[in-house]
Order: sequence, then structure tokens, then C-alpha cells
Amino acid sequence: MAECADFMAPKTIFRERDGPELELTFPHISAAGATSEPRSPSFDGSTSCRTREHGLCCKPPHRADAPTGKENAVKVGFIGLGQMGAGMAANLVKGGHDVVVYNRSPHKAAPLVALGARSARVGDACRGDAVITMLADGHAVEGVAFGDGGIVSILPKGAVHVSSSTIGVATSERLARAHAAAGQRYVAAPVFGRPEAAVAAKLIVLAAGEPDAVASVTPLLDAIGQRTFVMSRQPEAANLVKLSGNFLIASVIESLGEAMALVGKGGVDLRACLDLLTSTLFSAPVYRIYGAR
Ligand SMILES: NC(=O)c1ccc[n+]([C@@H]2O[C@H](COP(=O)([O-])OP(=O)(O)OC[C@H]3O[C@@H](n4cnc5c(N)ncnc54)[C@H](OP(=O)(O)O)[C@@H]3O)[C@@H](O)[C@H]2O)c1
Repeated sequence: MAECADFMAPKTIFRERDGPELELTFPHISAAGATSEPRSPSFDGSTSCRTREHGLCCKPPHRADAPTGKENAVKVGFIGLGQMGAGMAANLVKGGHDVVVYNRSPHKAAPLVALGARSARVGDACRGDAVITMLADGHAVEGVAFGDGGIVSILPKGAVHVSSSTIGVATSERLARAHAAAGQRYVAAPVFGRPEAAVAAKLIVLAAGEPDAVASVTPLLDAIGQRTFVMSRQPEAANLVKLSGNFLIASVIESLGEAMALVGKGGVDLRACLDLLTSTLFSAPVYRIYGAR
């Protein structure tokens, strides 16, 4: 029953972060709270690609363990070796890419170096074809991108900054403008999936940016995720979709919690009720996975 506690107190599930990032430039959408990262499920590959219906594209699932030929190897920096970034960076190394890592707390680089990455300062992580940031929030990304000796000042012209953190639309727009002004390219590529999914290269990647930029980092996105959905030419669109997904996950947790509290008070067996719901009308991964917690 302890596992059902998340349902009864869904607010405890979210980490507080990204507060100021809640400002959106899409006035019809209120994403209050959506930048807090819910414990999103490790998707099992059963997600359907609806983007085709809207004329957008996605790539088919790929084998996470498929080796990357040397011809596809990318010289890439990876900044942010937290719960998500450590697994993502490891999969880039395993995928055959030439990876330089940086983390504010240097000790977190050691396991990556043991795998074959090089550990360096921010500047040295920005001298390749691309640099991926997987930092806590928009403030951290801006600090690393715009700071003295930051990404924008060092990344070569034409190279790509791939921003995978959950950040706000306004921050993503600022990054896009700054990179364009510096002759660099920018792709927003936030992800769905828990740290376990990051380790297993099972993330769902939402990519957006100019097609040539997205294409040039596709081998990297292939290495970290099970599937990439290309949402738009506008980078911030991917951030908006990610925030809307977080909002939906939060809504599911809240509504499922309410339903379970109601039937629980009526003396109904919670597991039997969940079984019924998640095997019939509510069989989506998000209900099944949160239902089991
Ligand atoms: N965890 C999830 O389930 C999940 C799922 C999907 C997406 N996300 C998103 O992925 C991103 C990373 O999440 P996480 O779970 O990996 O977080 P985390 O474990 O807390 O790691 C955060 C990373 O950001 C670095 N960092 C924080 N503030 C910094 C600053 N001011 N300057 C430089 N580096 C800074 C940390 O460095 P130190 O090691 O030095 O602290 C660490 O490398 C977030 O945007 C999150 O919303 C998370």
C-alpha cells in the first residue's frame, strides 16, 4: 500500500524547479507548474506516432544497442551528468561517438571517463560538431550558454547546440536567437522518460529545429532514445510539447489519485479497481505505470 501513497499525495511527486521558466509566449496555454518534472514513466515502446497525422515526421524505432559505424561518429560535448545526463552520455560513448563531458561537480565524470569519454572544461566540450546540454533547468542552461566562456562564445560556426533539459519556451527562443546571431545552429530536444530509460537508451526524444540541424544530430538522438519525434522547425515548439506532456502526466496522477481515494473510501479493493481500469478503458502506459506505483 505504501506504493499507493503517490496517488494520495501527488504534489510530493514533483520537484520544484524552473519557476521563472513558466512564462510562455503562447497566451492561450497556461503551463503553470508544467516545467516541474513529473516522474514520467519509462515508456515501453508502445507509444504511437500521431505526428504523421499533422504532416510532421518521426523516425521509426531503432535498436538501442545498434553500433554506430565510424562514418556516423560525431565529435560531441555533453554538459550535465546528473541522473539523466549520465545515462545519455554513456550511450553516446557506447554508440561509438567521440564524447567530451563536463559536469559542474567533477567527480560525476569519472564513470564516463572509464567508459572512454574525455573529461574537460565547458569550453573544451564545445569544440566539436555538437554539444548537448542536460542541465537542471533554464537558469543552469543560460548560465552555461551565455556565461563568460560559455557555449555561445566558443561553439564553432555551424556546430549545433542540442538542448535536452526541460526548459521554458522563452529560454529556448533566447538560445535560438543567440546561436543564430553567432552563426551556430540550435536544436531543442527535450525527452520523456525516467533515468532508467536514459540508461537503457529508451528515451522518447522531441526534436525541433531547422531540418539540416536536426538531421546532423540524428545519430546522437538515435543513440540516446528509442524514438525521435520531429515536431517543428521552431525549436521552442519541442519545449512546449514537452511541457504539455508534463501537464498531462500531472493531470493523470491527480485524477487517478482522486479516483482511487474515492473507491478506497467506499471499501473497494484498489488493486482490483486499477486492474479493471488499466486493462480496459485506461490501458495507456501512463495509467498502467502510475497505477502500479
Ligand atoms: N529525472 C527525470 O525523471 C527527468 C525526466 C525527463 C526530463 N528531465 C529533465 O532533465 C533535466 C536534468 O534532470 P536530472 O534528473 O538529470 O537532474 P539532476 O540529476 O538534478 O542533474 C542536474 C544537472 O544539472 C547540473 N547543474 C544544475 N545547476 C547547474 C548550474 N547552475 N550550472 C551548471 N550545472 C548545473 C548538475 O550539476 P551538479 O552535478 O554539479 O549538481 C547536474 O549535472 C531537467 O531539465 C529535467 O527536468 C528529468
